[in-house]
Amino acid sequence: GERLDFRTSKQRLLVVANRLPVSAVRHGEDSWQLEMSVGGLVTALLGVKEFDTRWIGWAGVNVPDEIGQKALAKALDEKLMQRCIPVFLDEEVVHQYYNGYCNNILWPLFHYIGLPQEDRLATTRSFQSQFDAYKKANQLFADVVNEHYEEGDVVWCHDYHLMFLPKCLKERNSKMKVGWFLHTPFPSSEIHRMLPSRLELLRSVLAADLVGHFVSACTRILGLEGTPEGVEDQGKLTRIAAFPVGIDSERFIKALELPEVQDHMKVLKQRFAGRKVMLGVDRLDMIKGIPQKILAFEKFLEENPNWCNKVVLLQIAVPTRTDVPEYQKLTSQVHEIVGRINGRFGSLTAVPIHHLDRSLDFHELCALYAVTDVALVTSLRDGMNLVSYEYVACQESKKGVLILSEFAGAAQSLGAGAILVNPWNVTEVASSIGYALNMPADEREKRHHHNFKHVISHTAQEWAATFVSELNVTIVEAQLRTRQ
Ligand code: ADP
Ligand code: G6P
Repeated sequence: GERLDFRTSKQRLLVVANRLPVSAVRHGEDSWQLEMSVGGLVTALLGVKEFDTRWIGWAGVNVPDEIGQKALAKALDEKLMQRCIPVFLDEEVVHQYYNGYCNNILWPLFHYIGLPQEDRLATTRSFQSQFDAYKKANQLFADVVNEHYEEGDVVWCHDYHLMFLPKCLKERNSKMKVGWFLHTPFPSSEIHRMLPSRLELLRSVLAADLVGHFVSACTRILGLEGTPEGVEDQGKLTRIAAFPVGIDSERFIKALELPEVQDHMKVLKQRFAGRKVMLGVDRLDMIKGIPQKILAFEKFLEENPNWCNKVVLLQIAVPTRTDVPEYQKLTSQVHEIVGRINGRFGSLTAVPIHHLDRSLDFHELCALYAVTDVALVTSLRDGMNLVSYEYVACQESKKGVLILSEFAGAAQSLGAGAILVNPWNVTEVASSIGYALNMPADEREKRHHHNFKHVISHTAQEWAATFVSELNVTIVEAQLRTRQ
């Protein structure tokens, strides 16, 4: 029948995500400095505009005292256009829930890396205590949602940190409109079924009315029938559909006109005059394939000595989740490889790799995206990868080449314009680098045009509008069904 469309009215939206768009750093008892958080979730959600939004999340800091908590809540509320409401998690919960269950167990599992060795043997005590902390943290998020919820609100839960939240919310208020969206890949059922808490986690998500994806795990692990509508579990239908995320492309395109961005561009062009510049921008995460990328660049230099002083790789890798041992190991591994290659191919005046362990501010980032010749995205697995979208958005005048991993979600959308590579195949990536550096202008233009069209028409706002509209429709349809 006819589809209902709710896009016209200004819907109140409670976004719930582990991460707030700003993270806090303490300066004294009641004074806080707020810094932008880094990551695709924040980038996508910041691009969502046409709702009356509250954003509930963790400010990335332990605040044990009440004075500090009140001051931080106020600072957040004053500073941001989208109002932010902090969830306070104590140090032990953060350790077990965020460092442990989320980033040491779910993250590597969902990206096909598997479970960490010590948890692979059995459901050890540490696994169980981390799962308990995970559930406890999800309950704390639910408490804050309940405090701020008003009838008619759409509650949109995000990512692998909050898979238990739909259940917590629905148990307290079955009428609440609850959606859940996963920003990471959802692994095949053969991978997911390794997880000791596999059933409980899936069932909790299915308490939501609308879910981002993962039909196959529901059908294979829970043994449920998948239908075009979604899945039905114990008489309750959960609608499941795919909603590809995007960026606020206009924000990037407009930024390129700003004088400070133009200044950065000028400086960068002078600094690298006479050389082609390849760019990597990633959180320093094992799923980004940074060592593989750098080794492929080394192979390219090895095979093409004539390029040695004519190309530079800028790798901007912001440290992330630094309390998790796997991430610490990765940092030293990357530093070692970069040092070795620069020692091998550098000269007195230039080195082939500039590696920075830091984040760039928005203006610097836009300038870099705009002046570089090739972007190198070599994720071993990635939900979407918004860096690839940002690069394309900033390349209207230069028409640079995107080398993109076939294991990033973006390969589905930007595959026709990008050079797709298997990041594990160092030989293939090395030859793609050569192909990209030598690509004639007309081919670059054609490829870029294809991707640019996609990036500007599949925005973050469109993503959110579709999800929320679909959630509202799902609820109305469910009401109609029960009345029949
Ligand atoms: P992920 O969510 O896994 O980090 P995405 O590519 O989807 O991957 O999103 C990363 C976001 O974080 C992008 O918006 C990108 O601009 C930002 N980002 C990543 N690394 C840096 C960095 N070194 N400096 C500034 N921003 C960064
Ligand atoms: C990915 C995850 C997000 C997360 C981001 C940054 O994009 O999907 O949920 O916010 O990485 O990671 P962090 O652990 O710093 O929040």
